[in-house]
Parts: sequence; structure tokens; C-alpha cells
Amino acid sequence: MCGIVGYIGKQNAVPILIEGLKRLEYRGYDSAGIAVITENKAIIEKKKGKVSVLEKFVKGSGIEANIGIAHTRWATHGEPNEINAHPHFNADKSIMLIHNGIIENYAPLRKKLISEGYKFLSETDTEVLVHLIDKFYTKKKNLFEAVRNALLLINGTYGIAVISIYEPDKIIVARKGSPLVIGVGREENYIASDVNALITHTSSIVYLEDGEMAIVTKDNFEAKTLEDDKVEKEVVEIDIEVDEITKSGYPHFMLKEIMEQPESIRNSMRGRILMDEGVSKLGGLNGFEERIVDSERILIVACGTSWHAGLVGEYMLEQFTGIPVEVDYGSEFRYRNPIITPDDTTIFISQSGETADTLAALREAKRRQALTVGICNVVGSTIARESDTGIYIHAGPEIGVASTKAFTAQLTVLALLTVLIARSKNLSCQDGQMILKELESIPYKVEKILKLNDEIEKIAEQFKDAKNFLYLGRGYNFPVALEGALKLKEISYIHAEGYPAAEMKHGPIALIDENMPTVFIAPQDSVYEKVISNIEEVKSRKGVVIAVASEKDTKIEKLVNYTIKIPDTIRMLMPILTSIPLQLLAYHIAVKKGLNVDQPRNLAKSVTVE
Ligand code: G6P
Repeated sequence: MCGIVGYIGKQNAVPILIEGLKRLEYRGYDSAGIAVITENKAIIEKKKGKVSVLEKFVKGSGIEANIGIAHTRWATHGEPNEINAHPHFNADKSIMLIHNGIIENYAPLRKKLISEGYKFLSETDTEVLVHLIDKFYTKKKNLFEAVRNALLLINGTYGIAVISIYEPDKIIVARKGSPLVIGVGREENYIASDVNALITHTSSIVYLEDGEMAIVTKDNFEAKTLEDDKVEKEVVEIDIEVDEITKSGYPHFMLKEIMEQPESIRNSMRGRILMDEGVSKLGGLNGFEERIVDSERILIVACGTSWHAGLVGEYMLEQFTGIPVEVDYGSEFRYRNPIITPDDTTIFISQSGETADTLAALREAKRRQALTVGICNVVGSTIARESDTGIYIHAGPEIGVASTKAFTAQLTVLALLTVLIARSKNLSCQDGQMILKELESIPYKVEKILKLNDEIEKIAEQFKDAKNFLYLGRGYNFPVALEGALKLKEISYIHAEGYPAAEMKHGPIALIDENMPTVFIAPQDSVYEKVISNIEEVKSRKGVVIAVASEKDTKIEKLVNYTIKIPDTIRMLMPILTSIPLQLLAYHIAVKKGLNVDQPRNLAKSVTVE
């Protein structure tokens, strides 16, 4: 969602903060701001729009300071403008604060503070917090205590950083529900909501847990709980290369991440295949395998693209393990009093590992004593840490807001998990080997599909002015239809819907005419003939059809307007292949429309609010 970065040390904080904001911009991007303290005076600058607008301004202003905080915002309360942008500050600009999350009880707090004479400038929920801190500071004359006392009155979620001209040698940070890390340097320290902001400076990271705070100075940091008890924190060494978070010559992160998929898929299965035994080995699940194999049911919970991966997982797990599987949205699961028993395994799929709805669902499942398994990309993320056990997908940092390589890595890991469970049930060693061999060949097939980039770009040219799109697929490729439609709407703003192909006749067929392009995911699998009938139905209503088809299929191109031919694989792995042309199609349509592919309007990479 929003991004937080802070610095204290001997260097000029300003370029460090701006660079950090740029690395965080993918999380939220409607306005940005910076606050620094220099010669006991606060300087606060905020700008509507992208970080580059703020950057241009501060570069020209020559501001220098050794302590500062900065924020990039994705609006929740109040429109994106300079006043609502963070940092927020008290009346005399002596205390400044940046905040990720939502303060749920801000309305009564705001009313009370106004009755006590506090003046509010913005429409944000955040501003109550800075005035509350001001109120406690007046009494306590201790910044940490003032922040702590203010937070005790807050309901909601927060990752915050606070600085004050009265105590210009420290940054106070706190976390509840929104990630916050400390980057440890030599005679300098950093804070951020995401390690990506810090990796050019330090790889030594401290992850704060919910309910923890810290006083960060130039030479030290001291962590405490909200109840003021001291906590010993471990400094973790992280391993992210800088070129993993730069575009490396590509025009967009999204294209780079699509093109990285042969490698990211390889990474997600690396060291996890025991071919001789026809089984997979998932170290993260150590000690929990038996409980998973013996579970009565598997519940998969996720949001967005990760939810689509969960749907594919349902097909895989039910086909091969015989365990009943249900898939739910995080937001629905947490509020519908779901039936969960200690005999269930619950799986939480999240690229970021921070999605608020998925996290809340995880906590609910834990409360009800089900086994919780996290499938995450971001190492050390909250869902990864709070799950009983888990599997990292190892796709590497994903910066483009529209998820691509994380999706195919999630599918890879779900396939490995399926083999692991199925081998303890009825799957023979030979069948396990067959699946794993196919899985090993997937990166080569992905390389082949990526060579179709120019061809897909030409198809995209024909559809950049379309107003609507329909995506249809069956079986394993039904979730791919949903994912293809989601990719297109996220970045091109073209309305698109995904449907199981056979459901078309129950409604969407009414939409078909010469202006309604339909994408069929039609590999030569067991439902191929049925999908062909659906294509005929669309064609007879003058619909325009793009088909993603098997490379050996010679029949389909006579029927449809555009064909994208891809290699074949076994049914369970087909979604890894069929999703890739749809990523490229969405990408090229959005680029041809002149849109900002990496930072589509209104979206955020990681949604840490409800
Ligand atoms: C946001 C992102 C999507 C993502 C979803 C779930 O909406 O824009 O790309 O699929 O969150 O995120 P997660 O990090 O939990 O996979």
C-alpha cells in the first residue's frame, strides 16, 4: 500500500529518502512527502503525483539534513492532494509523522481533539495520531512515551515513523498490521515498510512484529512492546541483489518480470525435486507433512491473482490427492464464520505476504487450531512468519503491480505440494516422476512462448480500442480465464470478464457481437472438443476470437481470427503455460494505449488495508 522510509546518520538524508521512495513507489503512488530536521528546524515538503514530482522539487531546493522520514501514499481517507499527503504534523511543526494503515476510530478521536482546540488541516485518518502525540508530548516531554500513549488509544492498523525537533536524534517507529523494518548500518540506521527501499544501503534487517515499537538512533536501536517491555530483536541478513529491483533495460518492470519467468519458475522448484523417488521435498514444511497428508480438508485462502492460483491448486489437489479442497477470498473467509476444524489444513497464498484480508483469515484459522501454511514470495513477510509452516515461491522481487512471475511460481509450488501429498496417498513413483519431469521441462516451454512476444504484440495492436473482452476456458484453464481478464482490466482499464467456457450460454453469450473480442484458452486436452463447440457458438454470432491453442493443433486456426500456439504439457501444468500469452496480450494492449503499466491507476501492489 503506502510506502515508508526514514534515515538517521551522517549522510544527507534527502537523496536516500527520495531513492527509497522510488523503490517503494510500486506500493502506492498518488502523492509523496518528506520531512527532515536541520539545525533544529523542520522542513516538510509534499507533492501530489509521483515521487519524481517531489524529487524535482527537493533537488532544486538544496535541502540537507541528517535525519528525515518520507512517504508515498495510496489514498484511503481523503483525496490525493498535498494537504492529505504525509508527513502530517502538529500545529507548530515540531512533530512529524508518516503512517501506513488505517485508524478505524479516527472520527471520535478527531471530534474530541477538535473540542480540545486542535486544528485539523487534512481529511486523513492519520492526522489524529500526530495531534494525540502532541497532546501526550506536552505532558510527558518524552517522544517515545508520547507515541506509545497515543498508540494505546488507536484501533486499526499502522506502521508509523515519527520525528520531532525536540528530540532530533531519534526516529520512533511502531507496527501493528503494516510492515516495518529497521535497516542496520554503521553510524547510520534506516527504517522502511519494505526491505526493497534499503537494499542499496544495507542487508542487515530487523523485522518488527505487531505490537512492537523501536527507538532508532544513529548508532543504535532499542525495541520495546507497546506495553513498554524491552524486546531483544534478531538482525537478519537478507539476500536481494540490486538488479532484482531495477528494470535492467526493459521499458517496464512488468515486461521484465514476464520475461524472467523461465528463471523464476526454475528458482521455485530448485532443490525441491527428488526424481528417483518421484517426490518433491519442501523444506519449509519439515515436520508438518504428515499432518497435511492426513488432513480432512484443505482450505485455500487468498486475494486477487493469488486467489486464481488457489483455484488452480484446487484442481491439482483434488485430482491427485483425493482431499476435498475449498478456495475462498480472504475478505469473505474472515467475515463468514467459516467451518474450520483442527483436522483441516489452511493454505494462505500471498505474493507480498502482507495482504490484510489474507492475514486476517490466517489469524482466524489459527484461532480455530487448523494447521496454517503460508505460500509467499516476500521472505520474512507477516504471513510467512505467522503461518505454522510454509513454502516460499522464490520468484524474486515483483515490482509491477500486475502480478505475473509470482503467479506462475505459485502454480509451480502448488504442483510440488500436490506431488508431495499425492505420493503419500495413491500416486505411484512412476506417475510422480512423470509429473516432475514435465515440471522440469516447463521453463524451456515458457522460453518458447516468450518468443511469441512480437506476434502477440501485433495481435494487441488490433484490440487496443476494444471496450470489452471475454475470456473463456474450462477445467484447469477456467482460473486462467479469470486471471487473463484480471490482467487486462488491471493495466488497460478495458472491461474484461472471465468465465468457464460452458457457462457462456447462461449469460455472456448475449454480449457477443462483432465488437466483443473473446479469448479462448483451448489447448488440446480432454475438454478440447467442447471448447471448440463454444468457439463455434461465438463465431456464428460474428464474435472475434483469439485462441491460445496447442502448437500441434491444425484445426483451430481455420475457425478463429487469431491463434497463439503454445507447447503442450500435462493438464495440471497447462495453466503455467496458458497464462503467459495472456500476460503479454494485456501488457501490449496497455502499452499501446499509452498507459502506465507498472503503476496502474487506483491499484496498489500490496493491499494492507481492508
Ligand atoms: C493487490 C495486487 C494484486 C495481488 C493482490 C493480492 O490487489 O494488485 O496483483 O494479486 O493484491 O496480493 P498478494 O500479495 O496477497 O498476493
